Amino acid sequence: MSRIIAVANQRTGVGKTSTVINLGAALAEAGHPVILIDLDPQSALTSASGLDPYHLTLTTYDLLTRAETDLQGIIRPLVDGTWLAPASVDLTAAEYMLTRSDDHAQRLRRALRGGANHAQFVLIDTPPRLGSLTLGALAAADELLIPVECQQHALQGIQALLKTVDAVRAQSHPGLKLLGVVLTLYQPDSARCQKVVQEFRSGFKDRVFETMIEDDEAVAMAPAARKPVLSFRPSSPAAMAYRRLAAVVQEHAEGHAEPDGQADAEAHPAAEHLVAAARCVTFYVLEVAAERAAATAAGTRVAHVTLPRAPTRRAGQGRCE
Ligand SMILES: Nc1ncnc2c1ncn2[C@@H]1O[C@H](COP(=O)(O)OP(=O)(O)OP(=O)(O)O)[C@@H](O)[C@H]1O
Ligand SMILES: [Mg+2]
Repeated sequence: MSRIIAVANQRTGVGKTSTVINLGAALAEAGHPVILIDLDPQSALTSASGLDPYHLTLTTYDLLTRAETDLQGIIRPLVDGTWLAPASVDLTAAEYMLTRSDDHAQRLRRALRGGANHAQFVLIDTPPRLGSLTLGALAAADELLIPVECQQHALQGIQALLKTVDAVRAQSHPGLKLLGVVLTLYQPDSARCQKVVQEFRSGFKDRVFETMIEDDEAVAMAPAARKPVLSFRPSSPAAMAYRRLAAVVQEHAEGHAEPDGQADAEAHPAAEHLVAAARCVTFYVLEVAAERAAATAAGTRVAHVTLPRAPTRRAGQGRCE
């Protein structure tokens, strides 16, 4: 059975997409077939793979929204041993639509479970927010890998995400494991960066991978050449680091029990609850926007609009209040 790994961090520019591309390439280089899933409407993974997200049919949008579409129908071969399920710009519109659907997270999970048989790893790239797409990815994944940029304030974002993971695990969700935190854009000569490394290692201990991904211009240049850094500049520090990371990720496979098939087929209640919470927040944002638009049309100053109370969702209830 393949290991499905969501790569997520709600902060932007921390190396999620770069990690999906290059960890995927490193796993494939080591002989493990990989499917990369682009679940980010920005479609950076798709573009970096040489596809035009503005002119694509059969993408992750179809996988999420059309019951008749399966994973095999949308994946395309990339370099040896890797396949891509591309995103299209439609995914932007789909994100709101998905918040209205009760079963999209399970549909994604079923699609990934049922269609990834030939792959040992499935890596999911996610958008920089804890919206319905990221929560759907968490609900579909076995494991979560969190890239963290080696920069000031990095802790702020990661604590919220780890709390989310802890909540999901605590609420009887044994299938979702925290694979680990990988520090990216690491600068060995930067005192500020060293401080961040120390903070993470003392605060999160063995949840932080020893391997860190150096700040290496080859990573930033490789997407323009439509290549992973491993083939763009095979001996670069970042390429070597991604190979080391891939080796450790494989070792984790040996240490981890395979998810139990029956338990796995169950819904992830906590993750579903989070998806529902995201839906409530989306409705709230739309409600505010509608009220502001109505106020503008009526000539009322927006500053005078009374915002509706933010909705909440009680455990076990299916609606926003
Ligand atoms: N190790 C690295 N060394 C140098 N540049 C890097 C490295 N990792 C990522 N970058 C660059 O940093 C930028 C952000 O990286 P990336 O797109 O992978 O982040 P992201 O978390 O996916 O961003 P977003 O949240 O917008 O999706 C990109 O320009 C990328 O090329
Ligand atoms: Mg990205």
